[in-house]
Amino acid sequence: MAETKEKNTATAASDAHIAVHWKEEEYYQPSKKFIEQANLKEPQLVEKFSEKNFPNCFEHYAEMLTWYQRWHTVLDTNDPPFWKWFVGGKLNASYNCIDRHLEKYKNKAAIIFVPEPENEDPVVLTYQELYQLVNEVAALLRDFAGLKKGDRVTIHMPMIPQLPITMLACARLGVVHSVVFGGFSGEACGQRAADSASRVLIYADSYYRSGKLIDHKSAIEIAVETAKKDGQEIEKVLVWKRHPAKEQETPEEEWRDFYIDDLLKDYRGKKVDPVKMDAEDPLFLMYTSGSTGKPKGCQHRTGGYLAYVTGTAKYYQDIHPTDVYWCMADIGWITGHSYIVYGPLALAATSVIYEGVPNYPDPARPWRIVDRLDVNIFHTSPTAIRMLRKTGPEAAKKFELHIKHMTTVGEPIEPDVWRWYYDVIGKREAVIVDTWWQTETGGFLCSTKPALDPMKPGSAGPGVLGIYPVIYDEMGAELPAGSVKAGNICIRNPWPGVMQTIWGDRDRFVRQYYQKYNKNPNSKDWHDWPYFAGDGALLAKDGYFRILGRVDDVINVAGRRLGTKELESACLTIEEVAEAAVVPVVDEIKGRMPEIYVSLKPGVKTPPKEMADKVTHTIETMIGKIARPKTVVIVPDMPKTRSGKIMRRVLAAISNSLDVGDITTLANPDVVEQIRVQVQGLAKSQQKEGPEDIKQFGSQE
Ligand code: WTA
Repeated sequence: MAETKEKNTATAASDAHIAVHWKEEEYYQPSKKFIEQANLKEPQLVEKFSEKNFPNCFEHYAEMLTWYQRWHTVLDTNDPPFWKWFVGGKLNASYNCIDRHLEKYKNKAAIIFVPEPENEDPVVLTYQELYQLVNEVAALLRDFAGLKKGDRVTIHMPMIPQLPITMLACARLGVVHSVVFGGFSGEACGQRAADSASRVLIYADSYYRSGKLIDHKSAIEIAVETAKKDGQEIEKVLVWKRHPAKEQETPEEEWRDFYIDDLLKDYRGKKVDPVKMDAEDPLFLMYTSGSTGKPKGCQHRTGGYLAYVTGTAKYYQDIHPTDVYWCMADIGWITGHSYIVYGPLALAATSVIYEGVPNYPDPARPWRIVDRLDVNIFHTSPTAIRMLRKTGPEAAKKFELHIKHMTTVGEPIEPDVWRWYYDVIGKREAVIVDTWWQTETGGFLCSTKPALDPMKPGSAGPGVLGIYPVIYDEMGAELPAGSVKAGNICIRNPWPGVMQTIWGDRDRFVRQYYQKYNKNPNSKDWHDWPYFAGDGALLAKDGYFRILGRVDDVINVAGRRLGTKELESACLTIEEVAEAAVVPVVDEIKGRMPEIYVSLKPGVKTPPKEMADKVTHTIETMIGKIARPKTVVIVPDMPKTRSGKIMRRVLAAISNSLDVGDITTLANPDVVEQIRVQVQGLAKSQQKEGPEDIKQFGSQE
């Protein structure tokens, strides 16, 4: 009982509890023109993925790939919940994304790189050129860095084409890549390198962001030191130059750091046979925040993952080889892995990569790119849409855009924002799919089928092909369609895109995703192992899921996950700080932002403003600028239960101008009013959402 109570207290400060209050929306129909050309328009195909055909239905996705050897077992459930897919099959991801397209598409653009400075022209890499480069880099990684199948390598790079080239070179060798988002700090990179035991780091020296050439090389020293502190020696750092023709500079450490562009001269024309990987061999790690302070390395398999992203990119993004596809996300996140690199390239698409920020030098930039390259599939996040709508609502109207399909991902999209996207960017011609999924899930879980299902603003839609979602309440009872109560969304069945495990931590994998609703720990029947996603959701009568947000200690900032525990432990490294509590606060553009409450050790005389700046600076250097708090509040004491537990729920309510509820049982109820007055004072200088826009997600309390 005590445990349930603790849990409720923790979840009460979550994203889902400050869910936006939306009414049921009307439907929008896909156009006839879209339906006629769509990849997924046969109801028979949908039928093929019905539950009675599970798991063999997923062979349809696997058959989109080229295998050296076909699998003998589609799904092996012998070691639950460590499901194995396409067992016995052998393939190579790099071969599937490049080599197999050469016969038909060698001279077609695989990647079009758009640099942020507008005076630099786009760079086109054909499939043939990509093939050459990936082979040369693979040869260098093998012969110079000594990397081989099963080794891990940590890649900390911005959005330049050398990033997917490096990933595909790793995949060619069977080297497990772990890409760390370029905007993360050197510390964050070093920690992840240590966790995955990477001996080699791959960097870029610089990149453009909002018109400035940012020095990225300075992160190397910090990453190497952090990794060392965590027990991992970095033997080599390989550095790409943003401007390859630039004069050679002296590397930081001559024995350790090397410029790839210089080394590559020795590997011109070299070829590397793709390594024949087992379907279950890992392809990559992607670290993500969870409810503890330590990020977890989600380990994705080669066969199931590649099959899943290929199938979903084909049917849900409607990618054909003739399309020009642009996903304006970062390759350092799962969206970029699945739907900039692996999915689209496996389908021989043309994938656009943009280096910079969407509103540089002005909010019409994305539309100039769409216009110039004739992009017809456009994929982005609600945060970017909100920002472009707010800062340049007129800009898009001036362009004659002809986008057939648009995706949103990462956060709930407000119906008003959805309609703007539909009317102004899509010109009421494009279909929109709102795709709900996670780093852990490899690919989409809920979305409308673009040619077959009507769209409903604000709702992700039904489970995608072969995915059977369900909503459970805290006690494990199923909440039926049309229920006004929200609960925890789970996936009842395994699917090929789901992660294999948490790198090096099998127990945490089971605990985190399967323990909550497991019906029998000894069962080998997948029906007993629903996947717990950690999101609150509602299921409407029509079978469409509306995702409310995280129910754990994770904040979704601009579609990026930040663990509150990670932020809190960063604050606690500051000498003067006694306690720290981080809660989500609603933000007009980013959806949510972290707000940090800090109490100081007795006797500390540092002025509050100085302290707050110190906290912000610490967060930026230990994690990265994306984690920058909206506000730092230096409080006299934290609101606490009698047993001394910080009541984050109360702080979240104050931050979001909500009712704090019953606080009479607190050890120090008086402090709540003091904090509220303080926060109101700080808020005066900031633009805040009115309380009418946000509502308690109270059904579970
Ligand atoms: C949230 C990003 C509402 C959700 C692909 C999830 C969404 C977390 C949607 C995963 C959506 C993702 N509507 N919320 N369409 N898509 N989310 O791991 O809370 O970076 O758990 O993966 O983002 O974030 P992640």
